[in-house]
Amino acid sequence: MIKAEKIAELTAAIRKWKEEGKSIGFVPTMGFLHEGHLSLIKKAKSENDAVVVSIFVNPLQFGPNEDFEAYPRSMERDLAVSEDAGADLVFAPDAGEMYKGKPAAAITVTNRVDVLCGKSRPGHFDGVAAVLTKLFHLTQPDRAYFGMKDAQQVAVVKGLVDEFYFPLEIVPVETVRESDGLAKSSRNVYLTEQERAEAPHLQKALQKAAEMAEAGEWDAAKLENQIKDYLNTHTTAEIDYAEVLSYPELAPPAEESKEIILAAAIKFSKARLIDNITLKLKL
Ligand code: PAJ
Repeated sequence: MIKAEKIAELTAAIRKWKEEGKSIGFVPTMGFLHEGHLSLIKKAKSENDAVVVSIFVNPLQFGPNEDFEAYPRSMERDLAVSEDAGADLVFAPDAGEMYKGKPAAAITVTNRVDVLCGKSRPGHFDGVAAVLTKLFHLTQPDRAYFGMKDAQQVAVVKGLVDEFYFPLEIVPVETVRESDGLAKSSRNVYLTEQERAEAPHLQKALQKAAEMAEAGEWDAAKLENQIKDYLNTHTTAEIDYAEVLSYPELAPPAEESKEIILAAAIKFSKARLIDNITLKLKL
């Protein structure tokens, strides 16, 4: 496995693989890798000749009061587990390599960002779109893999790729969970013992509302209240949002919606956790 810290090292490897006619799978990450990330790498390996994993804590997608400085990092371990999962190259640039002085242009995401995490993290998806635009151009993947744990990110990135005709396919991958249902996340390490015990209720709250939806309750406000009530009863966390929307449009659900998302974000003392369930409607 190649470790590339410089753009020139990455592009040299890509050029060689392209000349050899190899397909390229790409898994962008911010590191501190867990089973969720590794499932993306394994899926990429099963569908492509060469797999590139990027590890870059992207400063542009963090707000001023967010955890950029404190974001957990574990480069040596990340390299070892990436290789085990099938990565052929890990691209781990520093911030100066990706952002060289004053930007000459910026990307603004104009759809699907006034809800869910986009609403509580203004500018977050502009930062995600900017770094992915750079990484997609450098890596030239046939397919890029994204986890459904960040379902809004999947929808926004698909929108970006469609809008600017990036010649690649976005492949969504199911959320990997702990045995008690908590979605794996790099931020779970910030939970205190009590918070860790409460955290699986985030998924349970969404499940209860999903059961109601499946039983025919399509009033978004009622489902949202159900999620909030459950969270307030079972956790000490502060609720950031609980929303029920159409997917992937992320608009208020309508009669013709084919799929909906039930999503919530909660804040514990040091960690903000998100989770969601998407449901196909039986029309
Ligand atoms: P990061 O949070 O490191 O996540 C990298 C990828 O792993 C994302 O596609 C995310 O959805 C996926 N992932 C995280 N937890 C998962 C889980 N439990 N099961 C399945 N997949 C999971 O998302 C980012 O980084 C950044 O925004 C990035 C796309 C790299 C741009 O900077």
